[in-house]
Amino acid sequence: MVELALPKNSKITKGKTWPKPEGATNLREYRIYRWSPDDDENPRVDTYFVDMDDCGPMVLDALLWIKDNIDPTLTLRRSCREGICGSCAMNIDGTNTLACTKGMDEISAVVAVYPLPHMNVVKDLVPDLSNFYAQHQSIEPWLKTVSPQPQTEWRQSHEDREELDGLYECILCACCSTSCPSYWWNSDRYLGPAVLLQAHRWIKDSRDEATGERLDNLEDPFRLYRCHTIMNCTQACPKGLNPAKAIAEIKKMMVERQV
Ligand code: SF4
Ligand code: SF4
Ligand code: FES
Repeated sequence: MVELALPKNSKITKGKTWPKPEGATNLREYRIYRWSPDDDENPRVDTYFVDMDDCGPMVLDALLWIKDNIDPTLTLRRSCREGICGSCAMNIDGTNTLACTKGMDEISAVVAVYPLPHMNVVKDLVPDLSNFYAQHQSIEPWLKTVSPQPQTEWRQSHEDREELDGLYECILCACCSTSCPSYWWNSDRYLGPAVLLQAHRWIKDSRDEATGERLDNLEDPFRLYRCHTIMNCTQACPKGLNPAKAIAEIKKMMVERQV
């Protein structure tokens, strides 16, 4: 049998099992990935027991209950707690999703919680999104115009506004990009589904006057064409969006502008 010699800090070890809360009779078991840059330890998976009679119904409620009642060092990002900010994205029960909108009743047994896959980890459940945000910045996600600035506002018809449905709702949680195999292996050069969906959002905006420039910016074997239509991204999106379709539409526009 092949034995792999994993580099330090890449091998997950068995962690600590924390005591059950005293007097609690309705318990839910959580196994949570822990890693800190502040020591020289390998990552570990700690086991916690949550008192369900004292906790809200969502996975985020349980993580905050653990932080408040058992282990204040557990580190995670969250803000809005209603699926709007995208900051609580993590891998729960084997799926990338938002902790604040994932109900514990959707998971049958032990709840396993890991950071978003294939990203460097800052600490515990917090992924390093620096590259992801730099890629977002690279598609220039703002209105670009050459026409003289209107007196009041850039107008848009209702029909043109509706063209942005399914695109503007993206909360940049990165659940899709971190479930995409092409992005796992090429995230230094492939923009990934979230950023390409955002690129499409600006290409489609009737008020934007930089469509050609935006398409030129994507005309690259890696930035766009590493998508192989595997569709993991669309299955993963907790907002029900379809990044794979957005990417296909950009590719179609690339072909159409050549004829
Ligand atoms: S469809 Fe494209 S972007 Fe989506 S998971 Fe597949 S390769 Fe990645
Ligand atoms: S497309 Fe969906 S999964 Fe991807 S970043 Fe936007 S909201 Fe998150
Ligand atoms: S806390 Fe904002 S999306 Fe979950």
